[in-house]
Amino acid sequence: MGRHKTPPKFYDFEFHFPPATSLVRCATVHANWLQGFEGQLDSAHLNFLHSSSIPKTPNSTGQMAADDTSPRFEFIEKPYGFREAALRNYQDGTVYARIREVVLPYYSFIPGNHEEPRLVVVVVPIDDEWSAHWYYYMNPFGPVPEWYIKRALEGADVDDDDFAKDRGDITNTWNQDRVAMKNGHFSGITKNFVYEDFIIEESMGPIMDRSKEFLGSSDAVIVRTRRMLLRALDNHAQGKMPFGLDENVDYREIRALAIRYPKGEDWKTFDTKQPPTFEFQVSDAAK
Ligand SMILES: [Fe+2]
Repeated sequence: MGRHKTPPKFYDFEFHFPPATSLVRCATVHANWLQGFEGQLDSAHLNFLHSSSIPKTPNSTGQMAADDTSPRFEFIEKPYGFREAALRNYQDGTVYARIREVVLPYYSFIPGNHEEPRLVVVVVPIDDEWSAHWYYYMNPFGPVPEWYIKRALEGADVDDDDFAKDRGDITNTWNQDRVAMKNGHFSGITKNFVYEDFIIEESMGPIMDRSKEFLGSSDAVIVRTRRMLLRALDNHAQGKMPFGLDENVDYREIRALAIRYPKGEDWKTFDTKQPPTFEFQVSDAAK
């Protein structure tokens, strides 16, 4: 597309895994793609939107995130986007880092805990008001474990081409369960925790009026993304490549990481392909 005579290469990501070791599914959402993508980038919402739907067993992602609801964000700018760490102080005095890779304009590499399959979410526009959310789960060491598939699919529609199509819409307030809310459920969206993301995106309206936003410090990643996208538009208007495409980047190196480490270490020195091992591991979460 566009004026460039030579189409850029497809990114050569590492996620060329055979079907036996991966799981791919898609949901179509009635919201502009950027609303969906920004939701995927926002690390702080784990503690709020998903507070009732992500288990908080000891050492699980839910517990570690709940221990510090105000993560600090640090970034390393990359030719294709950035690496971002959400840093939380864990209860035993260590630091819990969720290190994400963002490849603009629409790839988010989501950190998983030790031995969990890798997850990449890709949010692409269908038109101005509809977007497709692709979920790629992959395990380089073997089949995606049953417990993981069960947790990912629980309560979702069985159609892998549109796995949240039974979420409802504004006419039935997305099947929000008010009785569950009276009993303490945060969102009242009880089918599958990813539905919470989709419904929040849709409930803003298909194209959000951003002039009415009040961004806070936990929105640093959103601000950074928007600035980079605007800069890419400027570059494109001047006939330059938007970002990344003309750089010599090994896209197979891009990988997210969730890691717990002693205070004083610096996540920026960690190699996501061969992360350092400390005497403790991030637990393999709630199975
Ligand atoms: Fe979410």
